Amino acid sequence: MSKTVRLGIAGLGTVGVGVVKIIRREAAMLRARTGQEITISAVSARTRDKDRGVSLKGYDWEDDPVALATREDVDVFVELMGGSDGPAKAATEAALKAGKDVVTANKAMLAVHGQDLAVLAESHGQVIRYEAAVAGGIPVVKSLVEGLAGNQITRVMGVMNGTCNYILTRMESAGLPYETVFEEANQLGYLEADPELDVGGIDAGHKLAILAASAFGTQVNFGAMELEGIGRLTIEDIRAAADMGYRIKLLGVAQMTGRGLEQRMSPCLVPAASPLGQLEGGTNMVVLEGDAVEQIVLRGPGAGEGPTASAVMADICDIARGVRLPVFGQPAETLAPATGAKSTSPAAYYLRMMLDDKPGALAKVATVLGEAGISIYRMRQYDHSGDGAPVLIVTHRTSRDALDRALGAMDRTGVVDGSPVAIRIEEV
Ligand code: NAP
Ligand code: HSE
Repeated sequence: MSKTVRLGIAGLGTVGVGVVKIIRREAAMLRARTGQEITISAVSARTRDKDRGVSLKGYDWEDDPVALATREDVDVFVELMGGSDGPAKAATEAALKAGKDVVTANKAMLAVHGQDLAVLAESHGQVIRYEAAVAGGIPVVKSLVEGLAGNQITRVMGVMNGTCNYILTRMESAGLPYETVFEEANQLGYLEADPELDVGGIDAGHKLAILAASAFGTQVNFGAMELEGIGRLTIEDIRAAADMGYRIKLLGVAQMTGRGLEQRMSPCLVPAASPLGQLEGGTNMVVLEGDAVEQIVLRGPGAGEGPTASAVMADICDIARGVRLPVFGQPAETLAPATGAKSTSPAAYYLRMMLDDKPGALAKVATVLGEAGISIYRMRQYDHSGDGAPVLIVTHRTSRDALDRALGAMDRTGVVDGSPVAIRIEEV
């Protein structure tokens, strides 16, 4: 057996450069840990003569990632370009067909094409590893697929987009509106090239869809994800939630129900004192629940050069050590199609609305809720000067259908100004 694992690395941006640095800096340690020499045969990026802050001396250059992926002297193709389709997908497919293993950080590609790529990999006897694709430096895929292999997974939950968590926690700590903090995040370079991937919940949704496949033995089905971003959240909601003992998080929840797989990525209230509630800044947290283990909580950096390269290296080391697992924890052909189920698990809801400050207004709102079968758990009305009274209501657990019925009827009360804000309160 060869004592060398030869890499072809496509993508020399934040993550690619981090990987090159570790391989150059830690050659002896990696050899000691894997029993293999880990070397780089060739690299690829868009621009050849860019200073990347790391020496590329000794590595061949390929303009075309597909040519890189299929080189004779490449054993493992490391895809760090990004994008669900285009060169990332073309080169990954080419690598697998040419008998190479693949390591990638590309959640978009796996969320959209994960099942087809897994089938392709396994039909060629190759592996695809993707620890860096979900929650950056946190070894969550390994924890789920290996550490919890003996569990029926009951729920996967987490904050998996550091940019959104930065925006929400910064809005609260600095008392700034969404637009200001969004611009701040932009200046700090936190936002993806297309910011909607972050603030629209898509990036985090990709990650949750990937985890759900291994958790529930189903084919990745990002299309069935219920998605809502953080763009409509206001500083008023953040303050009001805090006042009631909650924090607002862009929270992903996946669970298998009798009706199918519920997957949602949306703003939720969580208790401020819970581990998720205490998560600050760009940090990620993933909560895994299984019938035997009960609950484990993983917390760490979800992005950045070092943390993401750390996860890529873990995959490369596993391949060098001879660890060969099915892409999603069981053979892709045995994964069941994931029937997407609309979230109907009952929950308490936070409602914020502006009421006309006149006799009977509150009673009309209470009646609408009561007629939909919704019971009020807590309520607060704040000091105000004008004609509008800001009112917060926390309901008892109710179904989303009942809530939608009540929200639909609010208009008819004639006392609610605009549409009430409704946010699910997740039990964590
Ligand atoms: P990045 O900084 O934008 O780097 C992308 C790299 O890919 C650049 O080197 C670029 O070349 C190269 N590239 C793009 N299109 C190419 C093409 N058609 N042919 C050859 N090379 C091409 O991205 P990144 O942040 O490193 O992210 C890479 C992957 O890791 C993505 O899938 C991302 O979602 C994932 N990821 C990133 C993080 C993070 O913290 N950054 C965390 C988790 C996962 P040039 O440099 O010449 O432009
Ligand atoms: N844009 C992502 C985040 C980093 O903010 O968490 C890459 O996964």
